[in-house]
Amino acid sequence: MYDRLKALAEALNAQDIVTLFAQDAGRAEAFSLRHDGMLLDYSKTRITDAVRAGLIDLAETRQVAARRDAMFAGQAINETEGRAVLHSALRNLEAKPVLVEGRDVMPEVLETLARMERFAEDLRAGRIKGQGGAITDVVNIGIGGSHLGPDMATRALAPYHDGPRCHFVSNVDGADIHDTLRGLDPGRTLVIVASKTFTTIETMTNARTARDWMAGAVDAPAEQFVAVSSALDRTAEFGIAPERVFGFADWVGGRYSLWGPIGLPLLIAVGPADFRAFLSGGADMDAHFCKAPMSENMPVMLALTGLWHHQVCGYPTRAVLPYDQRLARLPAYLQQLEMESNGKRVTMAGDDLQGPCGPIVWGEPGTNGQHAFYQLIHQGTQVVPCEFMVAATGHEPELAHHHRLLVANCLAQSEALMVGRSLEQAREMMAAAGLTGDALERQARHRVFPGNRPSTTLIYDRLTPRRLGQVIALYEHRVFVEGVILGINSFDQWGVELGKVLAGELEPILTGEASAEEKDGSTRALVEFVRGCAGG
Ligand code: F6P
Repeated sequence: MYDRLKALAEALNAQDIVTLFAQDAGRAEAFSLRHDGMLLDYSKTRITDAVRAGLIDLAETRQVAARRDAMFAGQAINETEGRAVLHSALRNLEAKPVLVEGRDVMPEVLETLARMERFAEDLRAGRIKGQGGAITDVVNIGIGGSHLGPDMATRALAPYHDGPRCHFVSNVDGADIHDTLRGLDPGRTLVIVASKTFTTIETMTNARTARDWMAGAVDAPAEQFVAVSSALDRTAEFGIAPERVFGFADWVGGRYSLWGPIGLPLLIAVGPADFRAFLSGGADMDAHFCKAPMSENMPVMLALTGLWHHQVCGYPTRAVLPYDQRLARLPAYLQQLEMESNGKRVTMAGDDLQGPCGPIVWGEPGTNGQHAFYQLIHQGTQVVPCEFMVAATGHEPELAHHHRLLVANCLAQSEALMVGRSLEQAREMMAAAGLTGDALERQARHRVFPGNRPSTTLIYDRLTPRRLGQVIALYEHRVFVEGVILGINSFDQWGVELGKVLAGELEPILTGEASAEEKDGSTRALVEFVRGCAGG
């Protein structure tokens, strides 16, 4: 599938990115895209006109447009689970009909949004109270898609946060809930139990612990609980009243669910107007994805750039580097979005995937990463394509000098990765520092940067709620396009099952209620060690 592109990559080996710029004065413009105040620059890669044409040809051959239309039309494109994929309906504020099995789901989506907004407004205004007074703190208990999105987005939009404080508990490690609840007033805390299935062991264990904590201080703990789920019967079993339950359909995947009731903590934090602005950003990216021609389509071009790097050039990882401290949880969010979606080894047709699946995604905000792992990115033996992201302006006018430095660092990193430093330049530097002979030679070699390392930069005016919505939807659609071209189902996650089953078997083994006999030697030895510690 990639033969032609691999041949192009081979032919380009002798040519570096700097040369591509020297040959084409218009390269920056020709290999970047603009949309509604955002600029995606992919010119600092080795993509040429011929490569781009080949990549677009690939997208056309793999029928990306037809699959996209099938997704938006509500077809059951999540074939292994027999479900439609319609998280876009949650941000369809214009209420254009969205049909699932012939029924328009928009009235229900908008009715739930209106209920969420009423609830959030009443809570923010102190009309909904706890048993000890107005709610000051909201604790969201969820994991994976029921945690990463609201946590990431609430941090990202901190400048808009004027509602109660929000806390996020996810890990079954008791330390997480213990440290979160410590210092909170149970009478003035609202707990949101967020779980699509309402069976996830981590979430249900934490939810029960929170209920016990609250029961120790208030008469009716359930009144300070809210549930967000697709499994309404289970929320009732847990004792949460129907009017405190916000449901969503199974055609919303966990890692795509931030736009609906799973986004309740964000809505409570920033209020309905900003939450709607966030949704409108997502809807804008949907419209762009559906209408823009391939070469001008941001999700498509971001996906094709990614495929070029991991499928054709063979770079196994991708670093996401937001120069924005408030986007500190974005790499973790994108890890789930990309790796749970495209980390598969069997195609839709049930065959073995030929070649690698989607890449390993990792990252940290800049400038922190610069003082940690950028050493390897610049001088290591592996090439790591980097995705930089930065706002041109910050939210603190009085700290504009901080922001200038932040932006300068972001731009400097992509420049340094591309231009590098030659041995000749390194020698000149060492000579200027007074070194000569062997000492100069030895030192110079350590100061060489190979350069020619690819990166993209996504830059926008400011991280507003609408901008965040656009960025998240951009990445969702990028993952979709990559998945379609790889030929896999991006919307299931069978790979998380086995570990859950084995954890269920191991718990009684750890307590001694069941025998470790059937386990492998390593697991038996680890169990024995744990039991030894517990006894000691
Ligand atoms: O185990 C993986 C997973 O199923 C994710 O896909 C999901 O986002 C997460 O667990 C949480 O699931 P739930 O919302 O059903 O608790």
